[in-house]
Amino acid sequence: MTTGSLLAADLVIAVLAAAAWLGGGAASAARRRPLALGLAAVALLATLARAVTITALARAGWWFAAEKVLIAAPLSLAAVGVAGPRLLRARGDIRAAAVALLFAGYATSSALLVTVLHGYPASAGAGLLAISGVVAATVVSGRALGAHPSRLVSRGAVVVTVAALVTGTGLTVGPGAAPAVPHDHGYPAVGIADEPDRRYTLTAGTATVNADGRNVAAWAFNAQVPGPELTATVGDILEVTLRNRDIGRGVTLHWHGYDVPNDQDGVPGVTQAAVRPGQEFVYRFRADQAGTYWYHTHSASDVGVRMGLYGVLVVRPGPVSGVDVTVPVHTLAGRPLPAPRVEQVETGTPVRLRLINTDSTTHRYALAGTAFRVAAIDGVDLRGPTPLVDTAVLIPAGGRYDLVFDAPATPVALFVDGRSVYSTGPVSTATGGWPVLDPLGYGTTAPVPWSRFDTTFTLVLDRGLDLRRLLPRYAHTVNGAADPDIPPQVVRRGDVVRFTIVNRSQVVHPWHLHGHHVLVLARDGEPATGSPLWLDSFDVRPGEVWKVAFRADNPGMWANHCHNLAHADAGMTLHLMYS
Ligand code: C2O
Ligand code: CU
Repeated sequence: MTTGSLLAADLVIAVLAAAAWLGGGAASAARRRPLALGLAAVALLATLARAVTITALARAGWWFAAEKVLIAAPLSLAAVGVAGPRLLRARGDIRAAAVALLFAGYATSSALLVTVLHGYPASAGAGLLAISGVVAATVVSGRALGAHPSRLVSRGAVVVTVAALVTGTGLTVGPGAAPAVPHDHGYPAVGIADEPDRRYTLTAGTATVNADGRNVAAWAFNAQVPGPELTATVGDILEVTLRNRDIGRGVTLHWHGYDVPNDQDGVPGVTQAAVRPGQEFVYRFRADQAGTYWYHTHSASDVGVRMGLYGVLVVRPGPVSGVDVTVPVHTLAGRPLPAPRVEQVETGTPVRLRLINTDSTTHRYALAGTAFRVAAIDGVDLRGPTPLVDTAVLIPAGGRYDLVFDAPATPVALFVDGRSVYSTGPVSTATGGWPVLDPLGYGTTAPVPWSRFDTTFTLVLDRGLDLRRLLPRYAHTVNGAADPDIPPQVVRRGDVVRFTIVNRSQVVHPWHLHGHHVLVLARDGEPATGSPLWLDSFDVRPGEVWKVAFRADNPGMWANHCHNLAHADAGMTLHLMYS
């Protein structure tokens, strides 16, 4: 069982236990003896089963087992300890066990709430809040059922609850605690003086486009989704003029995975101001890295990219030989956009499929009908990639895989999540059961270029209530805080920096650092054994721990965020800055 499925199982069992205790309490209050006993038995079993899942999580190296042991386990023990004996003693009137069963329900529910709502890091205030909630709810239920707790107990419960509310919810933390990231003022207008080799103009505007046979409203560059494919040869100077016709939320161009100088990075409020309707902005940079990249707006990026403000950027080392096509996968208005249909390819022709995931969730790609190699990931060539047959690849949000093969005499087809998106003829193969390539073990290894790290950071990805603004929100958090309150990571130029990224939540977070590719060192304590993997987008699945490193060689202020853009907008964005 993976850590992710263990976590899911633990959550389901915890919900079941809480619901069964509460249901048992309600049933016994209503004097429905058999139902009450049945539910109590289920609750007891579920509570005991959590001992198994929590132990398994601890053994699987899940980082946060300690907090389960400190909060969930004692509350569950208390639940069993209080409700169990009471049940045994309630031989005559089952109603006598009601308060005990309800207490057990409150205890298990509050442990669950702490896990789901409070997030990381667990604090003494949160624990206190959980306990006082349980006490208060039990006192209230007891009164309602005609049991009379002593005054002292009731008053004590009120005092503890108030104290816990104040400390546990962070209401005592004043605003302005987090260091600020600079916002809209005087961005340097730096550019390259030389004449550009490639000039493009991208005009953003609302448009109606055809998605899978239906007309849908979109936001588009030059009235097409995806926008025009930008191509260059290594060494070219690229000049792209961005105009905004009528996108009210503003637009920018971010060169995803392309490590441009900071002032060309296209992050509104950080490297430039958003381009408003009627305005323009000129981007200029030298294309010095070959590979598959893409561009997208970074202004209101979740809705902007989803609505269609993106396109492909391909930088080739030289003239195209053979077939070289990009396959940017995107879902527009809930429908997959069509990919290029390639008809006849002469047998033996070298083919390169540049797969790009422009959605916010992982896609599964399966190339059927031929052996292939993964030549590059995230624009960087792999070392010694070996041929693969009947193997699927998972591409994270924002990620790119280049697949290469020589066209066989028989047709080939590319499936994305089981749907055929590219084919040279009819192929009927069931790809659903294929194993998935683990890039950490693919290709030929090479030593890590650094033996020590000047700076290290730990990022715990999580969910939690964010009360900094007047409206509380259920934010996606990093180290317990949400944008704009996450302290920036400060590095010095030349530092070798290591990130440990831990996912405490129940969902995948595709991590993306701007301006740098990171070298994968290890996942879940296992060192990477394949080709050096220089990534700009990688999935950190629930429970996983990734160690990655990079050299701080591109000064500026860089976004560092989850590329599930809804998560990024809901708090999961921080910044890397140079001192
Ligand atoms: Cu493609 Cu900041 O993102
Ligand atoms: Cu995320």
